[in-house]
Amino acid sequence: MKIETALSAGFCFGVKRAVDLVYKETAESELVYTYGPIIHNEEVTNDLSKKGVKVINSMEELKELPAGTIIIRSHGVSKAIYDELVSYGHKIIDATCPYVLKIHRIVMEQSEAGRYIIIIGNRNHPEVQGIIGWCKNTNPNKDDNTTVQKESLPNYIVMEDICEAEQFDLPTDTKICIVSQTTYNYNKFQELVEIISKKGYDIFVLNTICNATEKRQSEAYELAKKSDAMIVIGSKQSSNTRKLYEICKKECENTYYIQKLDDLDLNLFKSYRNVGITAGASTPNNIIKEVLTAMSEKSFEQLLEEEKVVEINNGDVVEGIVLGVKEDE
Ligand code: F3S
Repeated sequence: MKIETALSAGFCFGVKRAVDLVYKETAESELVYTYGPIIHNEEVTNDLSKKGVKVINSMEELKELPAGTIIIRSHGVSKAIYDELVSYGHKIIDATCPYVLKIHRIVMEQSEAGRYIIIIGNRNHPEVQGIIGWCKNTNPNKDDNTTVQKESLPNYIVMEDICEAEQFDLPTDTKICIVSQTTYNYNKFQELVEIISKKGYDIFVLNTICNATEKRQSEAYELAKKSDAMIVIGSKQSSNTRKLYEICKKECENTYYIQKLDDLDLNLFKSYRNVGITAGASTPNNIIKEVLTAMSEKSFEQLLEEEKVVEINNGDVVEGIVLGVKEDE
């Protein structure tokens, strides 16, 4: 069995930076909070919890806690949440990935300039929730004549699939700006942009899928194409790992999505000749290494099995192993 691991498997630069910042801060400060889990990986979050890092899931929780350091994770947060965090007087460390910060800036500028924002991505993902919060005019307006809160029409939409792109229908003189979640599937993004482009709007498109994601996805695609089986390692909550799984599954029917080595049934790999391994941006290297080591051991066992020969000595059947016999012997 030949095993090949994608070069880009594992932590991307943004996740590594965020995790390193938390570890650094735990060494320097007593009270460290992260706004949401810093990474979709239990091993890392459990380790940080042992070091006293507390995960905050809402502003309500934060109000109850003594002043400390709050670390914003790589997904980023909405402007409203950012402002509120600052207002509590805690020390803020913003570990939002620079690729995500770029999207915040784009949607803010473009919505201020009057463009309607289309965000292509998963509407429930924290990164997308954060991006929404940087589009202008999304807050309720107060009606001047009454005390009733009147909702202004949102000037953004989140699109997840082709069906939603086909149904999109605003007056044709609407100016539009399209951006993407950083970890969205590049080919799907292109498909959706093409559908919207045919509707005749004045469109400003920015492919905001980050380089690390594009590279990881194209490597996974190439590897899956030539493999009999693929192993995709990462949390089930990790959006970019799920995308990798979808890409691999399309090219290679025998694709297995695991979170850690224990989830892998090594016996399934007996009959495969070429196995590819890739991992999401939030998968620590030690988990990838564990899987790789187990697979390499399996490969060695497989080799021994194949080389097993049966000798017959004086009527006794003896199982042996051929270990590279020299030609002149
Ligand atoms: Fe940043 Fe891309 Fe990673 S956006 S957090 S480098 S997947």
